[in-house]
Amino acid sequence: TNGVITLDPGYKNTGSCQSAITFLDGEKGILRYRGYAIEELAEKADFLEVAYLLIFGELPNKEQLEKFHADIKSHSVVDDDVKKIIDAFPKSAHPMGVLSSLTSALTAFNPSSVNVDSEEEMYNAIVRILGKFPVLVAWTMRKKRGLPLEYGDDNLGYVENVLKMMFKSPNHDYVQNEVLVNALDKLLILHADHEQNCSTSTVRITGSSHAGLFVSLSAGISALWGPLHGGANQAVLEMLEAIKEDGGDTKKYMAKAKDKNDPFRLMGFGHRVYKNFDPRAKIIKVAADEVLSDLGVEDPILDIAKGLEKEALEDQYFVDRKLYPNVDFYSGIIYRAMGIPVEMFTVMFALGRLPGWIAQWREMRLRKEPIGRPRQLYTGETLRSFTPIEKR
Ligand code: SDX
Repeated sequence: TNGVITLDPGYKNTGSCQSAITFLDGEKGILRYRGYAIEELAEKADFLEVAYLLIFGELPNKEQLEKFHADIKSHSVVDDDVKKIIDAFPKSAHPMGVLSSLTSALTAFNPSSVNVDSEEEMYNAIVRILGKFPVLVAWTMRKKRGLPLEYGDDNLGYVENVLKMMFKSPNHDYVQNEVLVNALDKLLILHADHEQNCSTSTVRITGSSHAGLFVSLSAGISALWGPLHGGANQAVLEMLEAIKEDGGDTKKYMAKAKDKNDPFRLMGFGHRVYKNFDPRAKIIKVAADEVLSDLGVEDPILDIAKGLEKEALEDQYFVDRKLYPNVDFYSGIIYRAMGIPVEMFTVMFALGRLPGWIAQWREMRLRKEPIGRPRQLYTGETLRSFTPIEKR
């Protein structure tokens, strides 16, 4: 502190805003969306209902939900020129980079999504992106698999249609599988919002300059990509695979995670806010067992994950630092059982987080929050005069 500025790297002790959307209690491991417990919503609601709840503040009645879904479906076509942008990417492109580019590029085809000052204009931009984003998600996966960029079936539910667009292929049509639909619906609900995390803060600060909704979301997707944030769900599976290749030697990885000279961290563990179990991780761990047995999938990775969790929870280093499994620790095991490739895991996180980002952006704009512009403590040179190059 220099009397005026209080330094707080990573904003560990800074409240950036007041918000009525999501409540976390890190000590007790509590997560609520608009006052509803995540445990209840994961069991009783569906993803579109939760999206409506987060964005507008109340659970929708039947008419409201039907109108919301109809408005979204009326915008579920993506401009054909977007396919040319996707085609221009190398097949090796990471889907998160493709997704953030396409989300920003959508602005060019939806100019009305930029200057949104009225609630009406905001609503229009919101249903547009909720309609088009699942197509972008599915097309990034189809691009990776060399499948044609096609649509699903708008008569299906929101989540069913996402699965259809992701998995249908020329040589066999995708058959709806209730287990997969319910698993994805639950995962998307559990990822839907999480107050002022890194990517949501990025969406808010980008939107605070009154940049458009789509480009603010694109910035959030970029932030989510990092392995310390949403990218962790991919890093967890890569870590578990490495442990499996190593003969399941979790002790070696635990030692690496505690070695200050080793940058390796136990991916899927630890959290800035939760100093107790991440309530989402608890639900996903149970769901992983259910989904794998329902699908008849035997995955040794799940046993390695459980072994690693048990070891970490009994390890003093982890206990001292209150490191518990977070949302990313088990989610990838379900995505993999569903046939989703590992480089798509963080894209699935983004699909879930979309309504939360939208809700937080909308609250920030409706509350006319000031542009985000933190200060610093300057530690550089004091005043000095220019020296001509001949003298340097
Ligand atoms: C998400 O914020 C959100 O809400 C995010 C999220 C959401 O829904 O939006 O919940 C989603 O991003 C979950 C987190 C996914 N990331 C990972 O799983 C990556 C591994 N975890 C970490 O890198 C870390 O725990 C963070 C990034 C999650 C939190 O970092 P902090 O709060 O800045 O804590 P820190 O890095 O200061 O760590 C505190 C101590 C350090 O040790 P000391 O220097 O005190 O001795 O704990 C250690 C760290 O070295 N530590 C770990 C560790 N996480 C923290 N040591 C080994 N393995 C780990 N995973």
